[in-house]
Amino acid sequence: MKALSAEDRGWWRHAIGYEIYLRSFLDTNGDGFGDLAGITAKLDYLKWVGVDVIWITPHYPTPDHDHGYDVADYLAVDPRVGDLDAIEHLIEKAHALGLRVFTDVVPNHTSNEHAWFKASVANPTGPYRDYYLWKDAKPDGSPPNNWVQHFGGPAWTLDPGGSGQYYCHLFLPEQPDLNWTNEAVRAEFDAILRFWCDRGVDGFRIDVAAGLMKHPGFADNPRIREVRLEDGPARIFNSFEHRYDLAQVSTVDVYRRWNKVVEPYDAVLLGELGVWDPVQFAHFVEDGTALHMSFALEPGLTPWKVDRLLDCVLGMAEHAGSAVAWEITNHDQHRAPSRLGDGDPIRGRRRALALTTLLVGLDGMFFVYQGEELGLDDGRVTQGGLQDPISVRNPGDHNDGRDGARTPIPWTPGARNGFTSATTPWIDAFDRTDVETVAVQEADPASHLHHYRALLRLRRSWPGLAQDPLLALKRERVDATHQVVTVLRANTLVVANLGLDEAEVAVPGGAWTVAFQSWPLHAPTGQPAAETVPAETTVVLVRTAD
Ligand code: BGC
Repeated sequence: MKALSAEDRGWWRHAIGYEIYLRSFLDTNGDGFGDLAGITAKLDYLKWVGVDVIWITPHYPTPDHDHGYDVADYLAVDPRVGDLDAIEHLIEKAHALGLRVFTDVVPNHTSNEHAWFKASVANPTGPYRDYYLWKDAKPDGSPPNNWVQHFGGPAWTLDPGGSGQYYCHLFLPEQPDLNWTNEAVRAEFDAILRFWCDRGVDGFRIDVAAGLMKHPGFADNPRIREVRLEDGPARIFNSFEHRYDLAQVSTVDVYRRWNKVVEPYDAVLLGELGVWDPVQFAHFVEDGTALHMSFALEPGLTPWKVDRLLDCVLGMAEHAGSAVAWEITNHDQHRAPSRLGDGDPIRGRRRALALTTLLVGLDGMFFVYQGEELGLDDGRVTQGGLQDPISVRNPGDHNDGRDGARTPIPWTPGARNGFTSATTPWIDAFDRTDVETVAVQEADPASHLHHYRALLRLRRSWPGLAQDPLLALKRERVDATHQVVTVLRANTLVVANLGLDEAEVAVPGGAWTVAFQSWPLHAPTGQPAAETVPAETTVVLVRTAD
C-alpha cells in the first residue's frame, strides 16, 4: 500500500479486524487443512461482511505441537498452506479490495525443531547456545525455579544434549523460549519483520507479547493459592503470581525497537499481552512508540459476570483508550455463545451481541473471530479427534481445551460443510446444521450474519460511532441486576444494558433515533429512541435533525 499521511497513520484505531484461524478457514487442495488460497478465495466475502483487516494465524513451517505456534522457520511458508507466491498473491488481492493483512509473529519461543535450537543443543559453547534460556539445575538436580508452563507441568526441561542444564519454556517443552537479552536474537527478529513487510504485510499480531524478557534473577514466582495435582493447567498456572516470568517492563524496549523497524512501512504492532492490570497494560502502548495497540483478552475469557466484564472494559478504555484492540472470542477461548449463555446458546448469543455492540462503540479496533458473524457456538469434536495439546496432554475434564473454537468454518450445508473435500480433515468435528452455514445465512436477510454485518457497517457508515471524541463513558450500577454503560459522543449514544431488568435511558436533549439494537435479530431501526432498553441488550442511538 502507498505511504500514509501522518493523519492516516492512526487508521487502525477505528478499524474492524477479522481473525482467520488458517487451518480451519477453507481448504482448497483437498488435504483437509485450510490454506492461503482458501483465504484469497473468500476475500470478497470478508469485504462484504465489512472488515478492514484480516489477521492470519501462523503460516510458517511447524512440527505442529502447538498448531503452528511452534515455528520452525520464520522466513518460510508451511507447504500445507501454500508458498511465498501464495501469500504475496493473497496480500495483493486483499490490498486491491482495500483490506489490510496482519500476520502472526511468534517471538517468545521457537519450535524445538528450529535450526537455532538444534544448534543450541548440539553445541553448548557455540553462538546459538545463548539464543535460548539455559540455566543450571539446583544442587539436588531439580529445575532452577518453580515456574510452570501454561499447558501443564514445569517450565523447565533437561537438556536433551546431556549438559545437565535446563532450558526454559513458558509453553510446551517443544517450544523453547528465546533469550531476548541477546542482541543476536533481537537482530534476527528485526530481519524477520522486514522480510514480511517487504512482502506487503501491514501489521503483526505478536504472540505472547508480554513474555519476552524474564526477570534477570530467575527467582521463584510467589504462589497465591494451593496447587492441587488434580487441577487443570490453567488453574495451576493461575495459582502463581507471574512476577518474574511475564510482563517485565524491559520487554517494552523490544517493542520500541520494533516500532522503529516497521515505521518506514507504516506497519502496525498489535500485541497479545495477557496483562490484566490496565495500568501495566498501558505501559506497553501508551505513547505509541512501542506497541501500537494490544488485545484486551479478559472479555474473551470471562463468563457472564457483568461486574467483572465491565471492570475490565472500563479500566482498559480509561487507561489505554484507542490502543486497546477488543475481542470477545479468539482461537484460544470458548466461543462467546458457549461461554456467556450459562448453558443456553441463544442467551449466549444475545449477551455476545450486547457486549459486541458496546465494544464496537468504543475507541480502538474490534476483532471478529471467524464464525462469530454466524453466531457460532463451540464446535463439537469427536472424542478421538481432540487435537489441542492442552486436552491431549492433560486428560481429565478441565474444560481448558481450545478445540471447540477451532473447528472449521461451515461454508455450505452437507458433508464437511464445504470446508474440505478430504474425508479426514485435520480436526474431526461434527458437521454444523444448515442454518449455521454461510450459504444459508447469506441468503437469509433475517440471519445472524446480516444482523452482525449491519452493526459492522454502521461503524463504517456512521464514523461518529467510534471516531468522534468521547464525551462521556459512564457506568451506572444501581444494584446487582442493573448494569448500564453509556458511551456518548457528539452525535452518537450507545446504551448497553447488561443487567437483568429493562433500564431507563437518559437521552440528552435533541432528537435521537435508533440506528441498531443488538437483540432481537433485526429489531426495527429508524424510529425515535425509546425511553427504556430491554435487559441484556445494547442500542446505538444517533442524533438526527430536530
Ligand atoms: C496463542 C496460542 C498459543 C500460545 C503459545 C498464544 O497466545 O494464541 O494459540 O498456544 O500463544 O504460542
